[in-house]
Amino acid sequence: MTVPPISLLQITDCHLGEQEGDTLLSMNPDESLRDVLSLIQQNHEHIDFLIATGDLCNEGTLPAYKRLHNVLSEQVSSPFAWLPGNHDSPRSMAEFGHAVNTKLQVLGNWLIILLNSRVEGCIYGHLESDELQFLERAINDHPGKHVMICMHHQPVPIGSQWMDNYIVRNAHEFWDIVGHFSNVKAVVWGHVHQEFSDTHHHIQLLASPSTCIQFTPYKKDFHVENTMPGYRWFELYDDGQIVTGVERVEDKDYGTDVNSHGY
Ligand SMILES: [Fe+2]
Repeated sequence: MTVPPISLLQITDCHLGEQEGDTLLSMNPDESLRDVLSLIQQNHEHIDFLIATGDLCNEGTLPAYKRLHNVLSEQVSSPFAWLPGNHDSPRSMAEFGHAVNTKLQVLGNWLIILLNSRVEGCIYGHLESDELQFLERAINDHPGKHVMICMHHQPVPIGSQWMDNYIVRNAHEFWDIVGHFSNVKAVVWGHVHQEFSDTHHHIQLLASPSTCIQFTPYKKDFHVENTMPGYRWFELYDDGQIVTGVERVEDKDYGTDVNSHGY
């Protein structure tokens, strides 16, 4: 009998402000998140799991996480988990219990690993040695599973000079470990606020658009564009195959300040 694929979704970089409607570059991230979640409801009858890959709240404040947790609980039909980005507060996130903060999720023949690449007070990423040890142990403890690794920061350059300053700076240590395991099929991240897709040997490298503002790809300096917010979907097959794509909300004027030089 054919096993149906696991339906996994990624949302990222929601950047919710402390109060509902607090804007980011004149855009309302609560509104765009709601639009993305409506699109998810339209597009997916069944979801097995959703992962939110960091920068969930712009200042890491508890009311923002409460709002995010509530809206995900109400509008997403599956369990979900989150991991921290540079804008997040792990202490606030920890208030929501183990299930949403899990670092390991087994879905059928797949193992999903959620890593913390955040560095206190810094925009760039780093994987601490205990995080790397956890990664290696998790893969070793689940022989025979196909593995997807999720984190906030990109572990490879994406071709935008300013954004690649904020890469996982010890990514070589990550790749040294991953290189020992042929069952790692995908590495997935947020942070870059744009769609990205590449391969490293047999491993798919994937990033998702933000649920709010979008950065223009292949830019030397900070640049925002009017591309619509979106999410990434995955179908994870029993034999290790991955089918994936990005969906964006229909064109809408969010009033985003695309002439800004930073945020
Ligand atoms: Fe972000």
